[in-house]
Amino acid sequence: MKALILSGGSGTRLRPLTYSQQKQLIPVANKPVLFYALEDVIEAGADEIGIILGPNKEQVIETVRSADWSVPIKFIYQGEPKGLAHTILVAEDFLDEDFVMYLGDNILRDGIVSHEKRFHSLGSSASVLLTPVDDPQRFGVADLNPDGSIRRLVEKPKVPPSNYALVGVYFFTPLIIEACKSIKPSWRNELEITDAIQWLIENGHKVDASFVEGWWKDTGKPEDIFEANRLILDDIDGRCDGEVEESRIMGRVVMEEGTRIRRSVVKGPCIIGRDSIISDSYIGPYTSIGIGCQICGTEVEDSIIMDESRIVNAGKVVESLIGRNVRIKECDSLPRGSRMIVGDNSDISL
Ligand code: G1P
Repeated sequence: MKALILSGGSGTRLRPLTYSQQKQLIPVANKPVLFYALEDVIEAGADEIGIILGPNKEQVIETVRSADWSVPIKFIYQGEPKGLAHTILVAEDFLDEDFVMYLGDNILRDGIVSHEKRFHSLGSSASVLLTPVDDPQRFGVADLNPDGSIRRLVEKPKVPPSNYALVGVYFFTPLIIEACKSIKPSWRNELEITDAIQWLIENGHKVDASFVEGWWKDTGKPEDIFEANRLILDDIDGRCDGEVEESRIMGRVVMEEGTRIRRSVVKGPCIIGRDSIISDSYIGPYTSIGIGCQICGTEVEDSIIMDESRIVNAGKVVESLIGRNVRIKECDSLPRGSRMIVGDNSDISL
């Protein structure tokens, strides 16, 4: 089986972070979201992976190549983003056998091994992962037959036929290529994967549903990223590879190599990345601090702070998503007040 992982799109709901970073590279518990998808497809037996690239293609290639993967990875540039079904057409030459398509901004706690087994044991032409949600209008939604197979799929319906949302993972045989070639662009001028799957159904091919049991997160918005960060940190084991001086460490805390904690209180679950320095601070639960950060005289809780950022005497920082190389510090000259150089679409609560 091959895998096609989608890592394009402009990530408008995550601006301003996505002006400089591809959304699938945003770290959750100090690991790019995309890496969770790569790990899942490898665990499910993918022997070759194609990654679909969009606007920040070099960044994605560099990040993926910075880690070791046990299977070959091919990068495929989508060009203009024309929909999920369009990515299959762009990757047509690569997709010469059964494959799993995985949206690279999704995280599933339990991976996809059981779903791969089910797809291959049933021998249907496609299988989609579903899970019940409270807000089906935000997703693709399935209408099911009494035998549990798919009768109809609708993208972002105003009146949802059920509360079963399409999780961004789909198993296909190469027949889906013909389906993608046969459909027309939707009202938003995209080739929709839901329409291609609907084409399979209407042409007499069985499409199965496979239900996700553990949690699933589509990390499209800041609150989803926080939630994914909490869920991943809830399952981590503590580990201390750093130095601790005059500090109190409580609960499950991961301290990577070269971290230094001085005169501070750290309460897990949380993760502190390589070479970060925490002094005279409180780091509270559900915090992920990246590589080479400095936190001094500040309380941080329920937040993600990315690599090389520095926060000094900044009071209390909660539910914050802070990009790379950001400086936040107490104002130490007159006139006192908040001095900001803030990018477009930033969001600040003082
Ligand atoms: C896409 C799919 C949708 C699916 C969702 C899952 O939507 O079109 O059917 O439910 O992913 O994450 P998007 O996130 O592009 O709005």
